[in-house]
Amino acid sequence: MEFTENLSTNRASDQERARVLANPGFGDFFTDHTAVIDWTANADGNGGSWHDARIEPYGPIALDPAASVLHYGQEIFEGLKAYQHADGSVWTFRPHANAARLNRSAKRLALPQLDEEAFVESLRRLVQADRAWVPTGEGEALYLRPFMIATEAFLGVRSAREVSYRVIASPAGNYFGGELKPVSIWVSKNYARAGRGGTGSAKCGGNYAASLVAQMEAEANGCKQVLFLDEFNDNAVEELGGMNVFFVMKDGSLVTPALTGTILEGVTRSSIIQLAKDRGMPVTERKITLDEWREGIASGDIAEVFACGTAAVITPIGLLKNGDELIGDEQATAGEVTMSIREELLGIQLGTVEDRHGWLEKLA
Ligand code: COI
Repeated sequence: MEFTENLSTNRASDQERARVLANPGFGDFFTDHTAVIDWTANADGNGGSWHDARIEPYGPIALDPAASVLHYGQEIFEGLKAYQHADGSVWTFRPHANAARLNRSAKRLALPQLDEEAFVESLRRLVQADRAWVPTGEGEALYLRPFMIATEAFLGVRSAREVSYRVIASPAGNYFGGELKPVSIWVSKNYARAGRGGTGSAKCGGNYAASLVAQMEAEANGCKQVLFLDEFNDNAVEELGGMNVFFVMKDGSLVTPALTGTILEGVTRSSIIQLAKDRGMPVTERKITLDEWREGIASGDIAEVFACGTAAVITPIGLLKNGDELIGDEQATAGEVTMSIREELLGIQLGTVEDRHGWLEKLA
């Protein structure tokens, strides 16, 4: 797909950019450009085509107030990162996995399929335009946020005939702020994130909207993230508000909830499974319940617990708060296995550890 380029005449100054890059935080600052591709359905309503691929200055989107995304939430998104290597080149991690997931989400949300190469090219063109924004501090990267929205102005409830795909970029440090340390997690009892046949395995804004009231409850209880359970399945552990969960067992194996259709198929999750198998660690994707978490911590059968995602990378979980019940230890130090997998993953992403699975793709 050919992109046209309309570069910004109002870029951040070197000083402004340096100020942001000195302390990027997460999700607060955005680069100078955005990538856009529009889609229009065919007149007969059968299929459609992508057109007007472009790089343009970052700025507000003009949307008709009747645009269906604003009413019915027909929206999906992705998250991946661009890393600067020691030689100054910029790479991203498994972008085809994100492209494929975007298309699975698109299918569930009745949005059009986007060619995987067009997806990767949109990242490449945006990062090339905004290369100066890739942060180089420890644990930092340029977070890329592709998303697709229904832009058609129409209030009937049907899939939109006009859609826009966009990518924005945001320099990012630790998702939880400050230094990496074990986080506390709140068990949501009153709210579910997803149900059978719902959109749990799709990366759509609605899942995150549904998590917010529980996330607020978590924060009110001094926790960084909320844990969702399947209360109709023995309180099986599902996932956190925006991350998957792993357990490092005393016997050296790794356990993570199986993908049942209500859990997001994380790219970081699948990469961790591969890295653990490469080490000869047995990995089991299965049902793991809140009871097993509680009993495993008490008996020592569960040695470490961590959260993972593109934004969170791998973040140790210290304490689980289930109402007044405390499982684990808020003051815990990060587990050895957790940190060693984290270092290997970051090493591959940053080009300091061999990329033996061919996961990296050069962007600039
Ligand atoms: C990510 O890890 O990229 C996510 O999408 C999780 C969250 C920041 C929404």
